[in-house]
Amino acid sequence: MSTTILAIESSCDDTSIAIIKDDAILVNKVASQAIHEKYGGIVPEVASRQHLVNIVPLLDQALQEAQLKMADLDAIACTRGPGLLGSLLVGVSFAKSLALSMNIPLIEVNHMQAHVLAHFIDSPVPTFPFLCLTVSGGHTQIVLIKDHLDMEVMGETRDDAAGEAYDKSGKLLGLPYPAGPLIDKHAKNGQAVFPFPEPKIDGLDFSFSGLKTAIKYFLRDSSKENPKFIEENLNDICASIQTRINTILCNKIKTAAELTGIKQISIAGGVSANSGLRKLMTDTAKEMGWELFIPQFQYCTDNAAMIAKVASYKFENKDFASLEIRPEARMKI
Ligand code: KG4
Ligand code: ZN
Repeated sequence: MSTTILAIESSCDDTSIAIIKDDAILVNKVASQAIHEKYGGIVPEVASRQHLVNIVPLLDQALQEAQLKMADLDAIACTRGPGLLGSLLVGVSFAKSLALSMNIPLIEVNHMQAHVLAHFIDSPVPTFPFLCLTVSGGHTQIVLIKDHLDMEVMGETRDDAAGEAYDKSGKLLGLPYPAGPLIDKHAKNGQAVFPFPEPKIDGLDFSFSGLKTAIKYFLRDSSKENPKFIEENLNDICASIQTRINTILCNKIKTAAELTGIKQISIAGGVSANSGLRKLMTDTAKEMGWELFIPQFQYCTDNAAMIAKVASYKFENKDFASLEIRPEARMKI
């Protein structure tokens, strides 16, 4: 019997709705919130209100594009956490209301598990066990994946996430939020000529706050000598920041691969869209004899297709949520 699930993602500043029928994603609609650009970062209250504006039209568009009616759905899924509480509340309440009104099951999904399972949307898919470097605006993790729904976090950031390191460095350069994609763009025309320090953190954990401070003082001192320093060197500064963040990430996943002996390596999350990181990981994979998995761009940043994918495994296990489901801002894998 075929199964159709509608999934909702609203953990941060993207509202997204996807529909999965058996193994195939029929539609994956994303409404991004450009409104945060002018504030230099996400304003949680604004994000929550924007989800309210986006969610009903997005549902209509998704059903129309998939040529389905609500009555065709077998379950509703939503991101339960981690994320911004006000943003999660909109998606969770909407999903719960739909499930209740249709009398169909509700499936709750962990956003970080979903980033990892984005690797199962398209072929080729990794085999178990494999390692995933999950790098987003809110998280930086090295995850050991033993099965679709059986994962262990081996290391994570002690302060800023990798995406935050990109965004906060960009803010110091006067770039709008989110600065990650813009640093990527400028870095393509620059050389990594400015050496920024690699933090000395034991084991598989990360830290990016020291790097951010080093960049801040470097820009302050250089701009004192030459007030046009940033403007005249923007591409090289971006290339230097990008190279340092990416080598920190790559060195840690290399350590994890050595420790576990695992050679199936993947990257996921918004920062995995970075062209420098994709190239560095591809080169490292060749050098180390890894099999590397990188999701399509549309499944790197936040999207409901990855939520739908997790939901399809949970549906098979009849792992349904109570209709009392509550969002969780800090939810462990
Ligand atoms: O996974 P995601 O869409 O949302 C969260 O779950 O946080 O990740 C968003 C993060 C932002 O920090 C954004 O700047 C970063 O991913 N990002 C990038 C690129 N595209 C998105 N960072 C560097 N280079 C990119 N091309
Ligand atoms: Zn995310």
